[in-house]
Amino acid sequence: MNKMTTEEILAKDEHLIQSFANLDALKQQGARTAIVAAKGAYVTDSDGNELIDGIGGLWCVNVGHGRSEIIDAIAKQLQTLDYYSTFYNFTHPAAAELSAKLASLAPGHLNHVHFSNSGSVANDSAIRMLHHYNNRLGRPEKKKILSRVGAYHGSTHLAMAMTTPAYSDGWDTAADGLVHHLRSPYAYREAGEMTEAEFLEALADDMLANIHNIGAENIAAFIAEPIMGAGGILVAPDGYHKRMRQITTDHDIKYIADEVVTAFGRLGHIFASEDVFGMVPDVINTAKGLTSGYQPLAATIISDEIYEVISGPDAMFLHGMTYSGHPAAAAAALANIDLLESEQIPQRVQTTGKVFENALRGLADLDIIGDVRGSHFMMGMEFVKDKATKETYADEVNIGLRIAQETQKRGLIARPLGNILILSPTLIMDEAMIGQIEGILRESIAAVTATLPA
Ligand SMILES: Cc1ncc(COP(=O)(O)O)c(C=O)c1O
Repeated sequence: MNKMTTEEILAKDEHLIQSFANLDALKQQGARTAIVAAKGAYVTDSDGNELIDGIGGLWCVNVGHGRSEIIDAIAKQLQTLDYYSTFYNFTHPAAAELSAKLASLAPGHLNHVHFSNSGSVANDSAIRMLHHYNNRLGRPEKKKILSRVGAYHGSTHLAMAMTTPAYSDGWDTAADGLVHHLRSPYAYREAGEMTEAEFLEALADDMLANIHNIGAENIAAFIAEPIMGAGGILVAPDGYHKRMRQITTDHDIKYIADEVVTAFGRLGHIFASEDVFGMVPDVINTAKGLTSGYQPLAATIISDEIYEVISGPDAMFLHGMTYSGHPAAAAAALANIDLLESEQIPQRVQTTGKVFENALRGLADLDIIGDVRGSHFMMGMEFVKDKATKETYADEVNIGLRIAQETQKRGLIARPLGNILILSPTLIMDEAMIGQIEGILRESIAAVTATLPA
C-alpha cells in the first residue's frame, strides 16, 4: 500500500472525510499531506520528505514511532487471543492486568477502570456513570455538568456539548441545558489587569456563582483538563485545580480530570492531577498516551466510593462498547507503560520538556508573538498584529495555517488553530532536535512576517 504515489493516494482520499478540517479547502491541490511511514520522532510523507512530528501524531505518540516492543506485544497478543470482550461475566488477562496497573498508577482511591476506545467516549462514560451513581443514591435531579469555555472533551454528542461552544459552530449539540460553561482560565485574554491571584479569585467566584444559580443539588460533575489543549493551550492560574477541587468537594460535586492529553509523561509524570497540580479528582479519563497511539484505547478511572455505589446490591452496569479493553489495545498499553517506566521517560521529560518550553518561550521576542504558553511538551504560541493591544490578525490572513505551512516546508509538522500554533511532539526529543524545532519556528515566523502588510 505504501508504494502508492502521492497522486494515487490523494485520488483515493477523495472518499475519506478528514476530521476537524475545512473540507472545501482540502479540495485544493497540495492541501493534504499523506504520511506513509514513521520512526522515532519523525514521520515521512508520500513525497519522501522526513518531518519532525511536532504534534506527536495527535499529542499521543509519547514514546515515539515504530517501537518494536509495542508492535511485538500487539502481535503476540493477537496470536494468543485476538478478541474477547469484557462484557457480561467475561474478562481476559491483558485487560485485567492493565486495569490493575492503572489502579496502581492512579492517585488516591482511584482503583476501578472502565475501558473504551477514545477520549470522547471515556468522557461520556464518566458522565453516564455519575448520572447512574446519583440515580442509585436517590437524587435523580443531580445531573448537570460544569465545563469551561475553552475546553475540549471530544466529539461524541455529549463530549462535544462539554467542549467549548466554538467547536460546534454550525453543528448541533444534543445535551442542551445539561452543560454549563464556566469562565475560561485564558489569562492572556481574560485576566486583563488582574494579578494571577486575583484572576484565580475571579474564576473561583464564577464557579461559586454558577453553583449558586444552578443549585449544587442539580450538579453531578465538574470536568476539566489540567491544561486545556485543543482550546489553545490554556494554563489556569497557579492553585486553580486545588481551589476548584475544594469547591467541588464542599458542594458534593464530582471532579472529573480529563487527562486525555496530560497523562503518560507529557508534563513529566504519569498523571498530572496530583503530581503536577496537587489534587486528587474523583475520576480521571485518559487515552492517547495510554498506548502512545499504537492502538485506540481510553480509560475512565473512578474512585472506590463511586464504584461502591454503582456496584452495590442489584446494580446493573448498562454501559460498554464491543472493543472495551480489546486485547491488542490492552497489550499495547502494557508494553507502552513498560517503556515509559523502564526508560524513565516522564522523568526525562522533567528536564527535556523544560528545555523545550524555554526554547519556545525564547521566541517571544518576535514581533508577531503575543504569548507563549504551556508546560513541558505541551506548548502553544499566539500570534498578534499588535503586541500592546493584543489585536489579532483577521481570519482571512490565516496566520497560524500559514506559519504551519512554512514549518512543514522546513521539516516540522506543527498544528495551527486560528491565531495559535500548537507544538506537542513525541517525548523523546533531545536538545539537538529541540534546537532544530526552535530554528525552524524562528525562520518560518520570520518568512510569514515578511509577507504581512505593515
Ligand atoms: C483533553 C481531551 N479530551 C478528550 C479528547 C477526545 O479524545 P478522542 O479524540 O480520542 O475521542 C481529546 C482529543 O484531542 C482531548 O484533547
